[in-house]
Amino acid sequence: MKHCGLKDMSRKLDVEAFKKDLKMKAGLVNEYLKHYLPDEKTFPVSLHQAINYSVFNGGKRLRPILVLESANLAGLNQDLAAPFACALELIHTYSLIHDDLPAMDDDDLRRGRPTCHVVYGEALAILAGDALLTRAFQIMSMDNNMAGLNSREVLRIINEISLAAGSSGMVAGQALDLEAEGRLVDGEDLRTVHSLKTGCLFKAALRSGAILGGMPEEKLSSLNFYAENFGLAFQITDDILDVEGDLEELGKPLGSDVQNNKCTYVTLWGLPQAREIAEACVDKCLASLQDFGAEADFLRNLALYLPLRSS
Ligand code: IPE
Ligand code: IPE
Ligand code: MG
Ligand code: MG
Ligand code: MG
Repeated sequence: MKHCGLKDMSRKLDVEAFKKDLKMKAGLVNEYLKHYLPDEKTFPVSLHQAINYSVFNGGKRLRPILVLESANLAGLNQDLAAPFACALELIHTYSLIHDDLPAMDDDDLRRGRPTCHVVYGEALAILAGDALLTRAFQIMSMDNNMAGLNSREVLRIINEISLAAGSSGMVAGQALDLEAEGRLVDGEDLRTVHSLKTGCLFKAALRSGAILGGMPEEKLSSLNFYAENFGLAFQITDDILDVEGDLEELGKPLGSDVQNNKCTYVTLWGLPQAREIAEACVDKCLASLQDFGAEADFLRNLALYLPLRSS
């Protein structure tokens, strides 16, 4: 079976080398983030402490990495895409803070540390999330971040990111995820929940860099297909890790889904089949990149890494 356009591209991945590469890219994102976020001494201090605590705590930074990577693919200097990469990470971090609240998944560990509400209380955790979401849109719309960019494209991606984050995207998925607790959901509905709660932000990330770089529509639609399958494979793996992950490496509680009576790919299909479905998504990710050359190898490797990840 042909997986991608590069004839010699196999399904082999040097996992250790790739993890190093990911770590290096996450380090770069952290530098950008420091630039765009008020530090913890900023007034009001407790709020900014809660924000900094939640952002600078070892997240993988996959969404911003994907913004930078798709900008690269489209031939755009990644410094120009950095504000949008940071914005996606701030939106994601807000979603995690709120996801962990007692009213939602009620989890007490995130990225290897006590969750925001455990340390700062529920009220401040809600507000830290609110502030991160708002900050994201402020960063994307700052005049001096527009230099070198086409303002129509900037507006287009701000609109796409709004749709991906709100009640037609991630927040919709989170609401459906809660409604599905304790209920038997069919495969199609679960796929919808996963693609909304997780897939939408990944897709917005990949599209943002590409649109900013003026990627032609045909290639953009290949990237869409990659993103949809990437998001699904990512969330299926998250469901699997919730059952059989390593607490130290995962940095969040195991068994949270069972405790909350969540419907997941594992509860619906069982572990072996969940793994197979994730692998099939990886194949589709690779197939979607057949019109790209070696410049898309990072995306190929990231897709291959998905089912192997432990954090
Ligand atoms: C966790 O996302 C939430 C899901 C969508 C499953 P990540 O696994 O990307 O979390 P961090 O940012 O690395 O902590
Ligand atoms: C939530 O999915 C995805 C978000 C939009 C935050 P999960 O609830 O499974 O994420 P984790 O496992 O807590 O990271
Ligand atoms: Mg959740
Ligand atoms: Mg959760
Ligand atoms: Mg989970």
